Amino acid sequence: MGEPFLYTGSPMKVQVLPSLLAADYGCLAEEIRRVAASGADALHLDIMDAHFVPNLSFGPDMVALAKRVCPDLFRNVHLMMTRPDLYAGRFIDAGAQTVQLHVEADCDVWAGLQSIRARGVRSGLVLRPQTPAKAVFPYLPLCDEVLFMTVNPGYGGQSFMSEVLPKIRELRLAADERGWKGLDIMVDGGINYETAVQCAEVGANQYVAGSFLFKQSDMGAAVAQMRERCERAYGTNTR
Ligand code: DX5
Ligand code: ZN
Repeated sequence: MGEPFLYTGSPMKVQVLPSLLAADYGCLAEEIRRVAASGADALHLDIMDAHFVPNLSFGPDMVALAKRVCPDLFRNVHLMMTRPDLYAGRFIDAGAQTVQLHVEADCDVWAGLQSIRARGVRSGLVLRPQTPAKAVFPYLPLCDEVLFMTVNPGYGGQSFMSEVLPKIRELRLAADERGWKGLDIMVDGGINYETAVQCAEVGANQYVAGSFLFKQSDMGAAVAQMRERCERAYGTNTR
């Protein structure tokens, strides 16, 4: 950290992604339409297998529902699964447009990313809060985006873990130095205006928010506000 300076590296597009995990499941189609109408950049869908994380959420049918209800709303699928390699294809068949798997998963990560790319879909890698940033470096040539979990994965509504911030900075600096200029860096867990800005300041450009955005009476205003604050923080930052 130092005095703020104008960042001259690659300016990635700032994006806000509501997480469907925090929606009212009694009216899912309406909730998906609310996300589309908010002007959000994509819908984030959390897939939990009750093995990699101690919770169950939903499967490919939810991705298919999102595609049917709002075909133009981009679908970003986060696989919290021990064997994402066995299921990625089913999520792509259902309409996933980015598939993210955890670097800690019990599978051949390189082959998993290759098979996602081979289907013409964006690929992403995810790190738990305790996993060092360097764990993803060998795979970056096959990654469109890296997602840093800023809570322990498994549940919405947890508090942001600020100890992840130095790792985000480390990856953004490494990406700039090594020429991975187009790498998107996403954060997920405990994201609100303040924590999103903290992540933007160290180089994250995509922000997943579940409970914070879904509890808003005007999701559109909140998405616009988060995007605006983060654009300012990402442009002038302390990396
Ligand atoms: C947690 C999920 C998150 C979750 C975030 O394991 O990966 O996407 O929905 O929820 P909030 O924003 O409520 O922390
Ligand atoms: Zn997620």
